[in-house]
Amino acid sequence: MESSSSKMNSAPKSIEKEEYMFDLEPDNKFKQILPTIPIKKGSWSLDFYQYEGFWYPFSHLPGMLFAQEHFKPQPNQVILSSFPKCGTTWLKALAFAIMTRSYESEPTNPLLSRLSHDCVPFIEFNIRSSQQRLSLDVPLVSTHIPYTSLPKSIINSSSKIVYLCRDPKDVFVSIWEFYNRNITRLFESELGSKLGSELEITREKDVLEEDVLESFCQGLLSCGPFWDHILGYWRASLESPERILFIKYEDLTNETVYWVKKLAQFIGYPFSLEEEDQGMVQKIIDLCSFENMSNLEVNKNGAVTLEVGIKKDEVYKYELKNNLYFRKGKVGDWKNHLTPAMAIRIDQITEKKLSSYGLTWNV
Ligand code: A3P
Repeated sequence: MESSSSKMNSAPKSIEKEEYMFDLEPDNKFKQILPTIPIKKGSWSLDFYQYEGFWYPFSHLPGMLFAQEHFKPQPNQVILSSFPKCGTTWLKALAFAIMTRSYESEPTNPLLSRLSHDCVPFIEFNIRSSQQRLSLDVPLVSTHIPYTSLPKSIINSSSKIVYLCRDPKDVFVSIWEFYNRNITRLFESELGSKLGSELEITREKDVLEEDVLESFCQGLLSCGPFWDHILGYWRASLESPERILFIKYEDLTNETVYWVKKLAQFIGYPFSLEEEDQGMVQKIIDLCSFENMSNLEVNKNGAVTLEVGIKKDEVYKYELKNNLYFRKGKVGDWKNHLTPAMAIRIDQITEKKLSSYGLTWNV
């Protein structure tokens, strides 16, 4: 396996890894495309695989390909989309709470006993059980897949899409914290021990290092480059505003009432005047707030299991602690982590790639 951080390869070793981990017969598109796609090393020495212009870690690409081929949205199903660490957990909670408000009273609300990712499944994870999990009554699914790689079944449907994005500097810090806390657990997991040294990932880092920023700027992280991900949805939302609602985490934080009402309207569950008078909007905001969600027992001590690989009938699972999804939930936390030079570097890319499309952040 290559150890250089930038060298491209066609990685015969990775094919062995794929044969070891993934056997999605008879639909194994991953197996077919793997010898032809670029592979690069990113942060923590993880391998990233480039497909349709975006990078994916080993654990995401097969599920993404599977979703591209097999996912079919149900009528009226709403797709919640985001780049990782933009507030997906929050958006899922809000949309789920909005849709279930007429029949889920506070004490029985699933959001009080399940992580919101368990209430609204990703179309690209939990590969085998996805059919079963997607048959939830609430017409919501989620994805991190970039717009241009979404299953054609979504693009060609009338399904509405809600996209949540965030200041890239905060996303970068959030990703760094998430990976850093997660990587030690990966070493201890069944998956980590099976793959062992083959993954060649490095252990937890104490300080935010330049190489992690370099990987972020090069787009070498799940569904990166971040800016291209945003741009795909932003342009699509400008073309079809009735089908794609584009929300910034910062706006959702600062003008929560306005955006929650807008979200409800957009997904087809508008608040009636009577509900507004009864304080329903605020109830949902309070239920889904960072303070409330992060202090729930299930989110403090629970875990969610992702199926990240399949070999014959053996499914490799990876357990993620729910508390990893709740860190600070603040706008502008990057100021506590990034040097001025790091912030400027990210801002310059944002300016270059997004400002001409009218997308800026002033935080
Ligand atoms: P920080 O790491 O900056 O705290 P995702 O859900 O896409 O994985 O994003 C995780 C980020 O959203 C984390 O940001 C997390 O703390 C924040 N978050 C999670 N739940 C939230 C909530 N209910 N309200 C606001 N932010 C939330």
